[in-house]
Amino acid sequence: MMDGKTGVFQTCAFYFLLLFLHDANGDISYSFPEEMKRGSVIGDLAKDLGLETGALSNRRARIDTDETEKRYCDINVNNGELVVADRIDREGLCGEKASCILKHELVLENPLELHRINLHIQDINDNPPQFNEETVNIEIRESAVRGARFVIEEAHDVDVGQNSVQQYSLKKNDHFILATSGNTVELVLDKELDREKEQDINLVLTALDGGSPQRSGTVVIHVTVLDANDNVPVFSQAVYKASLPENSPVDTVVVTVSATDADEGINGDVTYDFGHVSDDVKNIFSIDHKVGQIRVIGTVDYETTTSFEIRVKAKDGLGLSSYAKAIISISDVNDNAPVVNLKSLTNPIAENTPPGTEVGIINVQDRDSDNNRQVRCSIQQNVPFKLVPSIKNYYSLVTTGQLDRELVSDYNITISATDEGSPPLSSSKTVQLSVADINDNPPVFEEQSYSAYVSENNKPGSTLCSVTARDPDWRQNGTVIYSLLPGEVNGAPVSSYLSVNGDTGVIHAVRSFDYEQFRSFKVQVMARDNGSPPLSSNVTVSVFISDVNDNSPQILYPAPEGNSFMTELVPKAAHGGSLVSKVIAVDADSGQNAWLSYHIVKSTDPGLFTIGVHSGEIRTQRDISESDSMKQNLIVSVKDNGQPSLSATCSMYLLISDNLAEVPELKDISYDDKNSKLTSYLIIALVSVSTFFLTFIIIILGVRYCRRRKPRLLFDGAVAIPSAYLPPNYADVDGTGTLRSTYNYDAYLTTGSRTSDFKFVSSYNDNTLPADQTLRKIYFRYSFGYSKIETNLQL
Ligand SMILES: *[C@@H]1O[C@H](CO)[C@@H](O)[C@H](O)[C@H]1NC(C)=O
Ligand SMILES: *[C@@H]1O[C@H](CO)[C@@H](O)[C@H](O)[C@H]1NC(C)=O
Ligand SMILES: *[C@@H]1O[C@H](CO)[C@@H](O)[C@H](O)[C@H]1NC(C)=O
Repeated sequence: MMDGKTGVFQTCAFYFLLLFLHDANGDISYSFPEEMKRGSVIGDLAKDLGLETGALSNRRARIDTDETEKRYCDINVNNGELVVADRIDREGLCGEKASCILKHELVLENPLELHRINLHIQDINDNPPQFNEETVNIEIRESAVRGARFVIEEAHDVDVGQNSVQQYSLKKNDHFILATSGNTVELVLDKELDREKEQDINLVLTALDGGSPQRSGTVVIHVTVLDANDNVPVFSQAVYKASLPENSPVDTVVVTVSATDADEGINGDVTYDFGHVSDDVKNIFSIDHKVGQIRVIGTVDYETTTSFEIRVKAKDGLGLSSYAKAIISISDVNDNAPVVNLKSLTNPIAENTPPGTEVGIINVQDRDSDNNRQVRCSIQQNVPFKLVPSIKNYYSLVTTGQLDRELVSDYNITISATDEGSPPLSSSKTVQLSVADINDNPPVFEEQSYSAYVSENNKPGSTLCSVTARDPDWRQNGTVIYSLLPGEVNGAPVSSYLSVNGDTGVIHAVRSFDYEQFRSFKVQVMARDNGSPPLSSNVTVSVFISDVNDNSPQILYPAPEGNSFMTELVPKAAHGGSLVSKVIAVDADSGQNAWLSYHIVKSTDPGLFTIGVHSGEIRTQRDISESDSMKQNLIVSVKDNGQPSLSATCSMYLLISDNLAEVPELKDISYDDKNSKLTSYLIIALVSVSTFFLTFIIIILGVRYCRRRKPRLLFDGAVAIPSAYLPPNYADVDGTGTLRSTYNYDAYLTTGSRTSDFKFVSSYNDNTLPADQTLRKIYFRYSFGYSKIETNLQL
């Protein structure tokens, strides 16, 4: 029906005439569609006004408009029709007004008549609905929920009424439906969006009007799906496994975790961090927040922790996070040297410890694992010890040889331990072991025997020599104490001769020695250590006494001064070179000290007699002549060869006579040079000598007899009895130290006395005898001029 109506508007202008309205005051109204062609007849005006056709031209009918207004219709005066004069666009003239009326006036003259003509312009559907833009862009967050509405600006149609926008339609799509109410057009989210699937959606919205034919306008709605943080980061693995050698350097990358987030922008920005982990882990590892690299920042020690399980978190920009696990197993590196522990030690060990004795226990530890903790142990070669493996990591330290503190008193035993890692590590420990002393060394004298030389007449207490013995043992076991071994010398205890300083070994003389008494003796000195039991050794000390020129020569013949009757007879016929007498002297000293020389120091007639320097023989130097004085007097000096030399002098009275009767008074002989009755003096002299000897013998016998009954006189220790006797004797203790059992007192008064020797042997005890008594124990043999008296007094 509507189609029929529009067909009428379009095709037949006459139809509108039916709508002619005849107002009471003469207004005429016409209604017709817009956009009719110029010249199209709107109505028969003449007829409608009831006028003759010719009357219009006669009456100069015309359409008047206001000054400014456009004239849209005109009158054809010839036939009285009102026609379209200009294009009538309702939308242009009236816009959205529902009715659009153009007012014109018809003016007739003669008489002047004015008719108002109202032209009702009818809308035709000549405009399609139109959207403001060709494309509408809207952004919708993917998180938008179902039912969410998004307003779309509506379409416009300048036509009015039915010809304006009547409905919308949305091209079918997955997500949106359309909801219209009144003028509002809304997109309703019917199915949720997912940016990750579809980022852009194009919708086509069509607006339709109600005209006939119907017109439409479309717009493309470009929906951009905005991201919502609807995706959690996703790790590439649930568990990351890594192996890390211990002691890996700082900054070593252990493992890289990675997570992706399907979201976009900040929502897809993944950062990494540790989840809840212990402080230990935080001290050892760090994670790169951006890259996810787990690095070493601390010390990785297998011996502390063998593996780490770390929770790793990935977080996107808006805080959605997920977790994974990183399992880092640490592998052992041979970074621990073995440690040697001394568990027990017997220190010190006695030097007589038998080989094979356990002296210590050693334990070896290595903190590494597997091969890295397999340890071999050894000690250095040059010590008498070895290591014997015992249970597990224990070793015994055992002696392998005999110890000798005196050779090696301390051992530094170095125990080396090496593991089987690669490279191997080793360490060592030095054990100090001392060897304790055992008194196993006796003191040993530095020399096989000692000799001391001392001049006679030494001061008591003087040092003779010192002995030294060494004992390598320790402390009291090596402390040497010296002592004299008991013994006898010449029947007296050795302690009366010598003393030894127990600490220093210095030997002192206890008394003054007399060479003339004994020349040497031997003692035994013992060195003993202080150990328990003590050890000792003995040494012989020989003391040799050397001579000092302490005895003057003793003139035996002629008798000392005072015995003036000792006078020699010299035959008058004696030729030059005849032996007339001999001076006999002895010296108790020995050697040079007893080498005597004879000199005439004064004589009555210096040219007549000479004396043999060494023999003491007095000879005539020339033949005796008558003119020579009968009494001759010689003073002879006897000197020994000591330094300084000692001497003695004697006077020798010589009587040149053949007859003793001629001898003058004896008492004058020393003063009178004249011939005297020498012979009588000689007789007197001989008698005297004989008497003298007899008395001598008797006295000796007497004394000796008495002495046997007297107690022995002994020395009291340190003080030696000075022995001043005449003539002095001299002792000879022979090399073996035994005394001769017989007492031979030999005085050799020989003519060839260059080696004149006075030998006196006495026992020690005889020293106590007064000198004059001793002298009587003499085996006297002397030659005397032409006669020889030999007396053997073997007592
Ligand atoms: C042992 O070591 C100590 C200390 O290092 C040292 O004084 C000593 O002389 C050493 N002993 C030996 C026998 O090497
Ligand atoms: C001395 O040796 C004995 C064993 O003969 C020993 O018992 C003692 O300890 C030693 N003394 C010292 C000071 O070494
Ligand atoms: C040393 O002499 C003493 C006394 O005669 C004796 O007891 C000791 O055994 C001797 N020592 C040695 C080592 O001969």
